Amino acid sequence: MRRLLALPLPLLVALGACEDQSMRRQARYEVYGKAPLFPDGAEARRPPEGTVARGALAREVALRAPPPVDAALLERGRQRYEAICTPCHGYTGHGDGMVVQRGFPAPPSYHEDRLRAAPAAYFVDVITRGYGVMYAYANRVEPRDRWAIAAYIRALQLSQGARVAETPELAEKLP
Ligand code: HEC
Repeated sequence: MRRLLALPLPLLVALGACEDQSMRRQARYEVYGKAPLFPDGAEARRPPEGTVARGALAREVALRAPPPVDAALLERGRQRYEAICTPCHGYTGHGDGMVVQRGFPAPPSYHEDRLRAAPAAYFVDVITRGYGVMYAYANRVEPRDRWAIAAYIRALQLSQGARVAETPELAEKLP
C-alpha cells in the first residue's frame, strides 16, 4: 500500500520539468494590432488585389437568384428563423423576443406597414448587411437560407394581417 501511494510523486516531479511548448506561448501579434513586419504596420492583411475568396462567387450568384418559393423553402426558412432571429424578433415577428424582454434593444415589428410593403430582397439585404444596431448575419446565414427566411417572414406577415374575408371558411361561420 505504501509503495502504491508513493508512486505518483516522482511522476509529478517529472511532469513539472516539462517545458510548455504550446503555441499560445510563442511571440505573436494581437488581432488587429500593430505589426511592424508589414509595410502598412497592420496585423490584419488585405486580400491581394483581384482575388476572390473561395466560395464567394457562388454565394454572390445565389444571393442574386431568389429560389422558387415552395413548402420545403418555407419550412427551411421557419427552421432558420426560429433558430437565429427569434431571440430578438420573437416567434411571430412582433419584435418581442426573449432577449428584448430582458432589456436588449427592441426591433420594429414585421407587421408595421413599412415592413409589410418592403420587398423580400430588403429582408435579404438586412440579413446580409445588418441594420442600425442589428449586426450582419452574412457569415452565419447562407444566401439561399436568407431567401428562405425572407419567404418565411412574408408568411408571418400574412398570418398576422389576414382579414376574415380572406378566410372564407371562417367568414361563413360568422354573422
Ligand atoms: C440580437 C438581436 C437580433 C437578432 C438575432 C436579429 N435581429 Fe433583426 N433587428 C434587431 C434590432 C435591434 C433591429 C432594429 C435596429 C435599429 O433600428 O437600429 C432589427 C431590425 C431588423 C429589421 C428591420 C429593418 C428596418 O428597416 O427597420 C429586419 C427586417 C430584421 N431585423 C431582420 C432580421 C432577421 C431576418 C434576423 C435573423 C436572420 C434578425 N433580424 C436577427 C435585432 C436582431
